[in-house]
Amino acid sequence: MPAPQKIRRLGDPGLDLNTLVSLSKRRGFVFQSSEIYGGLGSCWDYGPLGSLMKLNVKRAWWQAMTRRSDIVGLDAAILMHPMVWKASGHVDGFSDPLVDCKECKTRFRADNTESYLKDKKCPNCGSKNLSEPRNFNLMFKTHMGPVEDSGSVIYLRPETAQGHFVNFMNCQQSSRYKVPFGIAAIGKSFRNEITPGNFIFRTREFEQMEMQYFVEPGTDEKFYHQWKETRWNFYLKYGLTESNLRFADHPPDKLAHYAKAATDVEYKFPMGFSELEGVHNRSDFDLTQHMKFSGKSLEYFDEPNKKKYIPYVIETAVGCDRLFLAFMCDAYREEVTVDEKGEDTRIVMGLHPELAPYKVAVLPLSKKEELTGPAEKLRNQLAEDFDVVYDETASIGKRYRRQDEVGTPFCVTVDFDSLNDQAVTVRHRDKMTQERVAMSNLNEYIQKALKNYN
Ligand code: GAP
Repeated sequence: MPAPQKIRRLGDPGLDLNTLVSLSKRRGFVFQSSEIYGGLGSCWDYGPLGSLMKLNVKRAWWQAMTRRSDIVGLDAAILMHPMVWKASGHVDGFSDPLVDCKECKTRFRADNTESYLKDKKCPNCGSKNLSEPRNFNLMFKTHMGPVEDSGSVIYLRPETAQGHFVNFMNCQQSSRYKVPFGIAAIGKSFRNEITPGNFIFRTREFEQMEMQYFVEPGTDEKFYHQWKETRWNFYLKYGLTESNLRFADHPPDKLAHYAKAATDVEYKFPMGFSELEGVHNRSDFDLTQHMKFSGKSLEYFDEPNKKKYIPYVIETAVGCDRLFLAFMCDAYREEVTVDEKGEDTRIVMGLHPELAPYKVAVLPLSKKEELTGPAEKLRNQLAEDFDVVYDETASIGKRYRRQDEVGTPFCVTVDFDSLNDQAVTVRHRDKMTQERVAMSNLNEYIQKALKNYN
């Protein structure tokens, strides 16, 4: 296949986040939540392909963490004792300054709205008739049990991290891991964001993938730098373009109340470089707070050295939805080829195969029973090892394009020769090269090709 003359990516003229929003809806990655009722602000549902891909994103992160010999997993409850959020500082401090425009009723954040910071103006209508900024707590409140009084108030967790802290002793003692060791968790978090937006970038319900690494005080700086590097390499391994990534260290005067040092891994989304992940040195703030509020010791006893201390924590915290979006943004490309027949555009979602919703598509060349029978049998054979899709409608060229657009790395065509040679044509997504492979050997062939991708 000749190389395309031009490759267009998100951020090029005419290609932006809306390109992904419409592809996501059309192909079943992400839908607006409650769409038939007009949608619910900033909530999104992952469709047939999106749910598969999201699982793959989570699996990649989970395995990168828990297959190490020094990290254990955790799946903590979303609802936690209300004192947790007192101890963590969220009840008193997890708020954004909110301003109301009295003219057009727009609500916006005082601390990151340019027109307000510059001229005290509404970003929507330009009016100066605004309320004073007031602190708006971002935690969702609800009530536990049948009585809705102040004693029954409970919060939907705004981060998964507190589950790690309150289970520090449980995890350490049950696993018998020694410091330094980590706890990793994936789960839903909720924040009543004032300005959600940019598709799944900032939403009110989202999933976090957080890891807390407990270390001896004095070794924290070393591990902080190690984790920065480890997380950077994770992104490269799964295909993010290095020039689209950067670190943005928090200056000392902008650090969160709990942090000794912090950096954001930023990704170049179509709207510009924005935070993808936070890597934080949280010192012993959280364990100390929980000791104070619970009255329980969270000190670690270092047996060989016969000393007790409260571990410091290095945290890595990334949003699963935000990472999903970064992978989609990076993977999307339009290959433009011009020949005597005119211009042709191939849309490719060049996802790392481990992240792609389907690994293989099985495509019988014709709808005739003599081909669809063996093709369905082959589909079932492949489904023992992979997420696989079967498609017998439209021309073979169109079906290849359908799979390119959703990132399927391999298309397998069952043709009339297959009936004689018991082999099929495997077509590769990126280079569009084709190979003839024995059907009996196909699972192994795909397994190997997936493994050798990097
Ligand atoms: N435990 C630390 C913590 O939660 P954070 O920087 O507030 O730190 C970590 O959040 C990550 O969670 C962010 O880098 C982002 O990827 C994701 N995240 C935070 N708020 C989000 C939101 N409203 N929508 C989607 N993802 C969000």
